[in-house]
Amino acid sequence: MRDRILDELANEGILLEPEAAELVLATDDPLGFTRSVLASMTQQPLVLTAEHIHGFRPSPSVPAPVVPEALHELRNGPTVPTRITCSEIKVLKDITGNSTCEGNIIDFARCFNDRFKKIKRMLARRHELAGCVSVAKATKFDREVRMIGMVNEVRTTKNGHKLIEVEDEEGRCPVLILKDNPFAQDSIVSDEVIGIVGKSAKKGDMVVLNELIRPDVPLRGGGMQPSDSSASIAFMSDVHVGSNTFLKTPWDNMMHWLKTEGKDEIQYLVVPGDVVDGIGIFPGQEEELEIDDIFMQYQALAELLKEVPDGIKLMVQPGNHDAVRPAEPQPTFPKELVNMFDSSILFVGNPCYFEVEDRKILSYHGRSLDDWVGAVQGLNYNNPLEGMKEMLKRRHLAPLYGGRTAMAPEKEDYLVIDEVPDIFVAGHVHGAGITDYRGVKLICASTWQAQTPFQRMHNFNPDPGKLPIVHLGTGRAKMLDFS
Ligand SMILES: [Fe+2]
Repeated sequence: MRDRILDELANEGILLEPEAAELVLATDDPLGFTRSVLASMTQQPLVLTAEHIHGFRPSPSVPAPVVPEALHELRNGPTVPTRITCSEIKVLKDITGNSTCEGNIIDFARCFNDRFKKIKRMLARRHELAGCVSVAKATKFDREVRMIGMVNEVRTTKNGHKLIEVEDEEGRCPVLILKDNPFAQDSIVSDEVIGIVGKSAKKGDMVVLNELIRPDVPLRGGGMQPSDSSASIAFMSDVHVGSNTFLKTPWDNMMHWLKTEGKDEIQYLVVPGDVVDGIGIFPGQEEELEIDDIFMQYQALAELLKEVPDGIKLMVQPGNHDAVRPAEPQPTFPKELVNMFDSSILFVGNPCYFEVEDRKILSYHGRSLDDWVGAVQGLNYNNPLEGMKEMLKRRHLAPLYGGRTAMAPEKEDYLVIDEVPDIFVAGHVHGAGITDYRGVKLICASTWQAQTPFQRMHNFNPDPGKLPIVHLGTGRAKMLDFS
């Protein structure tokens, strides 16, 4: 636990004083307690000290973790206990119930501003960007400058150089990447936040880039540190109930396994969206539907999920085929649909950060992969895990505005990858795969739908009937094949 807290604080650029560590570890929920202390501070400290802990007064409106009596006395404030039990899923971040956006220009400005601030904070901790200056001032210096900006525009000059424009709260600045600089080959996408090390051009009207810095996730050698959890989590994306290409036999094989061997192995099962095929999602879809009523589709899914053994905790998210708002972040399903299902199922939005058995998981349906494939050289639908790496590198699930991923401008940008997950899962592209990226387990969670005529037309070959499973104690992952 000490390592986990140190890791989390290191991600935020905060050190932990040894005496403070002892106080934190004496609480029932050290991680939750540390987060509450940090959340109560107006300014992020460089070092979290015992004095900070002693001075912490939990807000009556914010549930505080359970701590020993000695600390109660030190804090002298009201506490409402929250405990994470081993068999629970703790939702850390989800738009469900928190949506405030009206979609006006102020909402968009606020959301982009939040994105910029969050990712800038990550970049500002990078030693390569120490002493960075504002974008507006960058051309004023006759020395190497470092700055952080959001990409406004990317174009190629007639001489083959790359010219981008970056922006921060105070101004804009053109940045030239000469064609012989290796970073000229890098795919820079609109609205991503980047760090730039460069020098003002002779004319003083632009910065010439030497180095491009991405926020990325910190390198964690070896991935998940082993814990004493004996639980496993499985991911089952893109079920597409209602489609005439729904794969009943592989589904039945999988369900038979879950009811026999699987029920002892799996404790958590996540469905990351496109749980039904939907209605009117693409032209001519009615030709491909076996169930042409949206309520009947969800009813059919509810029946299928009734077979999941009771000991397995189910979590369900929406995707772009589901009957929720298409703009991301997507709140969960409306009550009338949720009420069709067993009350033990946890319905959440998309994306969703949650924690099980002390492992942090980011589950995202993956719609933005359509935009990533078009924007980043070398990406295609057959290597979605590479697309997921691009998201982690930029610490954003869908930075490109105006593509196929519609954006709902909430008061904060829910698509920023502000916490480094242990597991990052996506579906949508109907591929299946597992890999590691800088210590994060990446999962592409297959589908239970065969190749559709649309996919055949685009020469896209899905990889259906696979069930990726991660052991939450060892971090080891495997893929079961029921196709
Ligand atoms: Fe899908």
